[in-house]
Parts: sequence; C-alpha cells; structure tokens
Amino acid sequence: MAFEYIEIVDPIYKATHQEREEQDYVLVRPTETSMIPITLPDWQPEPCCLNKKFEALAQRIKDMDVQLCDVWMVSYPKSGTTWCQEMIWLICNDLNYEKAAGSKLRERFPFLELGGLRELPKNVDCFQDVLSMQSPRFIKTHLPVAFLPDQIWTVKPRIIYVRRNPKAIAVSYYHHSVSLHGYKGTMEQFVHSFINELQYYSPYHRHVVEYHSLEYEDDILYLCYEEMKKDLKDTMKRVCKFFNKCYSEEQLDTLAQHLSFESMKDNKSVNSQEWVEYCLRKTNREDKIKDVNSQFIRRGEPDGWKQELSPELSLEIDGWTEKKVTDPDQIALFQYD
Ligand code: A3P
Repeated sequence: MAFEYIEIVDPIYKATHQEREEQDYVLVRPTETSMIPITLPDWQPEPCCLNKKFEALAQRIKDMDVQLCDVWMVSYPKSGTTWCQEMIWLICNDLNYEKAAGSKLRERFPFLELGGLRELPKNVDCFQDVLSMQSPRFIKTHLPVAFLPDQIWTVKPRIIYVRRNPKAIAVSYYHHSVSLHGYKGTMEQFVHSFINELQYYSPYHRHVVEYHSLEYEDDILYLCYEEMKKDLKDTMKRVCKFFNKCYSEEQLDTLAQHLSFESMKDNKSVNSQEWVEYCLRKTNREDKIKDVNSQFIRRGEPDGWKQELSPELSLEIDGWTEKKVTDPDQIALFQYD
C-alpha cells in the first residue's frame, strides 16, 4: 500500500456535523516517497486532507504514464489556478483564441483528481480525460508533491506552480466551499478548520514549501498571484520564456486584455458558472446563484480579503504561518504585505 488512510474528526464540525459530510473527509499519507527529489532535510510527507473517494484514484495516479510534453499546472486551491491555466494554454497554443473559446477550459486543461474529490455527473471522468488527451496534455492538479505520478521524476515534464497569500486563499476557499461543496458553516469556522489543516489539500504551508524545495532543474516555473496582479505582462514573459515562445508586445497586450479579471469573468469558456449552478441546485440553494460570491471568477483582488476577514482571524493566520514556517528561506514565500 503506497498510501495510509487516517480517519479525522474535525473538532469544529463536531458541533455542526449535520452541515458538513464530515465522514467523507480523510487524511491520506503517502508511504512510498523514495523517488521524490526533495531537498528538505529528513523530509516525510504530512498526511493530506482529501475525500474518501480519492482512494479509488490514488494508486492509478501514482502509476500513470507521464509524457515529456505534458504541462502540469499545480497549486493549492484558490491560488489563481484558472487564471494561470488560461494563460499557459494560450501561450502554448499560439494564442489561438478561437480554439480557446470553442471548448471549455476544463476540457482543454482537465482537473486530474476531481473525481477523487466529489461526485461527478455519470458521464464525466476527468482522470480518463487526461489519459485520453492528445499530446501535449495540459493537466491541472492540487495534489501535494508526494501524490504525483512516479514517472514525473524520471520523465520530467514541465511544471508550473502558483502560490497566493493564505489570507486571500482562506476567504476565496470559504466562498468556493459554500457554492461548490455545500458548506454551511461560518467564515470563522471555515478559517479555523483551514488553520487546523482540515480543508481539502491541507496542510497549506507544506504544499507551498515542498514544491519550492524540489530538485527539478529548469523544468519548474514558480508564479505568484500577487505578482501577476502587479505586473501580468512580466509573468506572461516568464511563461513565454519557459515554453520557448516568442510574441510581440502587441500580442502580449492582447493576451493581457484577454486575461484581465473583467474579461475572464465574462468568458464562458473559463468561468465555470454552470458548474457552480449545478452544485447549488444539487444542494437546494438556488437562492445563492445570483450571489456575487458564488461566482467562480469572484472578486480577483489581492487585498480583497481585508474587507472580509476580521482582524482577529487575520492575526490567527499570521500566528499559524509563524508557527509553521521557521526557515528564513521559506518565510519569504509567505510574506505578502
Ligand atoms: P477570489 O475568490 O479572491 O476572487 P482558482 O482558480 O485557483 O480556484 O483561484 C480562484 C481565484 O482566482 C478567485 O479569487 C478568482 O476570482 C481569481 N481569479 C480568476 N481569474 C482571475 C483574473 N483574471 N484576475 C484576477 N483574479 C482572478
């Protein structure tokens, strides 16, 4: 068994257990890690919070064939993954806006383990979609390093990793959980369970640190949501260089416009609004469909969390980061102010 499954009891949800399908959450610990080229001393992966459905997929992902021309987009949830996916897909596909508009981002760039996270409509199998994609395959995953296919470390396809301020993630993830996972607790409860590492893909800091500690030569590119907001063209140029692509300033201006928040929000190919509506209907919360916070492309501000997170919760997140990250080289990965 390459994975160990550990039952969890979330103390916060004990009180409100009827509001969260707590029994579906599980901690998963990879036990075979010798192939992973990580530079952290005495590294062992921490258990990751996932759904019990993941058990059916875990080994299949570990054993899947990897291709050199694959493009792997990796992040902790709510870090700006969708934004990066659209940018990467277009840069790698000669800025073919027509083709991008003609098919949904989730078809062009499937989410590898989605079926291990939640019940999907009967005809949807994201893992199979990845396996049957034509090369180059564009693959999105939120899985921590130790869950990636073994072949990644020998074949070495390109990986792009994006990180974001945990305070912005906390707020964005709360709204996402309300609209997509039927979450009915408060923002405060949510943030506390995020801090307790009991939200999907937690622990958050380890996720970021592990990917930034890989010995993966020039085949990994690190992006940051806040840097993209500050200077999107600079990030676009770094992505172009990473993929050996060359575009004129004018072409990059057009791409920056396409990737702007307003444009992405109106873009039906990337803004999975129908998916949000499907999830809200499933949980009998049609009333939330028009709620601005239910939008997948929601607010798009680096500092929007300041208006939604209480000063107390913000301080708690600071304290959590201080406790979790003590190495001076790693601290910089979590400094956003
Ligand atoms: P907010 O909820 O803070 O608005 P992911 O794709 O990893 O789930 O991340 C979603 C977050 O990225 C959401 O953050 C979403 O609004 C933001 N986002 C998506 N497209 C964006 C864009 N073009 N510009 C800025 N933020 C964007």
